[in-house]
Parts: sequence; structure tokens; C-alpha cells
Amino acid sequence: PRKLILDLDTGIDDALAIAYALASPEVDLIAVTGTYGNVTVERGMRNSLAVLNLFGRPDIPVYAGLDHPANADSFGPSPGSRAIHGDDGLGGADIPDSPRVPQSESAGEFIIGAAREYGRDLLIVPTGALTTIAHVCAQDPEAMSGVGSITFMGGALTVPGNVNPCVEANISQDPESADMLFRSGVHTTMVGLDVTHRTVLTRSATRTWRGLGTASGRFLADMVDYYIGAYERSQPYLGGCGLHDPLAVAVAIDPTLVTTMGLNMQVDLDGPFRGRTIADPALLRNAEVATDVAVGVDSTRFVTDFVTRLTMLARR
Ligand code: BDR
Ligand code: CA
Repeated sequence: PRKLILDLDTGIDDALAIAYALASPEVDLIAVTGTYGNVTVERGMRNSLAVLNLFGRPDIPVYAGLDHPANADSFGPSPGSRAIHGDDGLGGADIPDSPRVPQSESAGEFIIGAAREYGRDLLIVPTGALTTIAHVCAQDPEAMSGVGSITFMGGALTVPGNVNPCVEANISQDPESADMLFRSGVHTTMVGLDVTHRTVLTRSATRTWRGLGTASGRFLADMVDYYIGAYERSQPYLGGCGLHDPLAVAVAIDPTLVTTMGLNMQVDLDGPFRGRTIADPALLRNAEVATDVAVGVDSTRFVTDFVTRLTMLARR
């Protein structure tokens, strides 16, 4: 199996991304690194450690990444994030804390070390603010260009955003870092709201998980019922919750799940569209394409596979 690092702001769909990775024999999850967005880095790492523990992988280390945007002194989750993921990031679902703490090495040091060690065998999936990832790509573009893929969840090419009509949450947290990543020359795959809003999970999945009668099945069901409830209030037309972060993991494992368009992207840094991802007009004719932007997804294949894998994981 190839090695996988998840860079998460562990809210609900990030926790589902951990579960999906653990349920996927194609990859070996070697670490979770902490970023911010749904929650603070500290809370997100506490959630990651608890989820790893619950699913029987207390051996997987967690590393702290940068905890605020490049152009701010601190970070606190927005009321919108709290409404969707709950104050604790996991929708108040009952889960014991792990006795473990994060590693002393920083996420940045760990990621660069792993990139050097594993090269093409390493997959990196960032699904929160892109601060740490942009930073390591700027620090060591050579090592970061050598990894198998960097597949991030964030942005949108066509559809309305979720922070405002133009802006998606992960990019909105630190537009400068996202823009820096796009321009770093390091190749990325962007899994944006265009496709994640088409991978919708319904309460039929949570009924299945609850019916397993296990602690992990109950946790998944409670957490996702909370998430679906938040979507029913904010985006009822979806008919369930979007599987944003797990889809990015699935695409890293199997890129054929999506169709992509090769583009050079940038982020609006000023004005009313601050945080919007958009193709860079100056680079549109550049043959060297930095980002494969997902535009289509085989939703049925992914959602069916997602439910099957998590059901098997939560059965144990
Ligand atoms: C993204 O923002 C966060 O709320 C989710 O975890 C996901 O990564 C969706 O816009
Ligand atoms: Ca996330």
C-alpha cells in the first residue's frame, strides 16, 4: 500500500476521511497532521486522536501544523463552522478522548521528511486551511514535487461556495496560502464543491451504522445525523450531507473517480470575492499545468463504496 498523510481540521467530514482511509487497504495512513478551519488546530488534533483510538489505530501519530492564517495573529472557528460541525467539531457525538498527545515534531518537518523518504509512494490529502501545506511547498518545492500526489478538498470552479456565493470554507480560511500553493509550481489536484456537493450521504447510511450495535457504529451514526441535520437546515436541496473530505481521500486512492480539467488556478485576494478560486488568465495559455481541477464525479460508485467500507470498519 502507498503511504498517506491527511492534513485535517478535524470536524465531521474530516473524521469521516480518517475512517475512510483506515477502511482502505490501498493505503497505509502514516500520520494525521493538524490544521484549522472547522475548529482550532488543538481541538482538531484532539478529535483526530480520539477517532484514531476509537477505530483501533492508537499507533498512528498526529502532528501539529500552523495554527493561523499567514496574515492574522490567531484563529477561531466561525459561527457557520460551529453550526455545521458543532462546538466540539464532532457534532457532540460521544467519543472518549485518547490518552495520547500530539508528537513534538511539527507537521511541516514531518511532511518534508516523509516526502523525501517515500517520494512517489506518498499521497497527501489536505482538507482544511492550506497554511501548512503551502508553507512546506514553498520551503522544499523539490521534495514536495516528488510526492505521488497532493489532492486537496477546497475551492470551487463553477458552483456557489458555502461561505458566500463565491467562496468555499477551506480556501476562505487563508486565501494567501491557497494562492501561494497554486503558484508554487507543485502539482495539485483540487477536489472542490463542484464535485463534493454531488456526493451526498443520507440517513439510510446512519441507520445501517446504528444497527451494527458497536461503539464505532453508534459514533458514526450520531455524528453524521448531526451533520445531516445541519445540512437539512442550511442546504435542504442537497437531500443529505456532502462527503467533501472523504471524496478527496478516495480520489487520491483512485483518480478515475473524477474527471478533471488541467488549469492554472489563483485565488482572489481582494474585493468582494476574496477567497474565490479562479483560473489565472495570465497562465491560461501556459502548457505547464499546475492543478487538475475535478469537474465530474462518479457519485454512485463513490458513495456506495464509502458506505460499504465504513460499515465494514464499524462492524469490528
Ligand atoms: C470543507 O470545509 C469544511 O467545513 C469541511 O470539513 C470541508 O473540508 C467544505 O467546504
Ligand atoms: Ca475539512
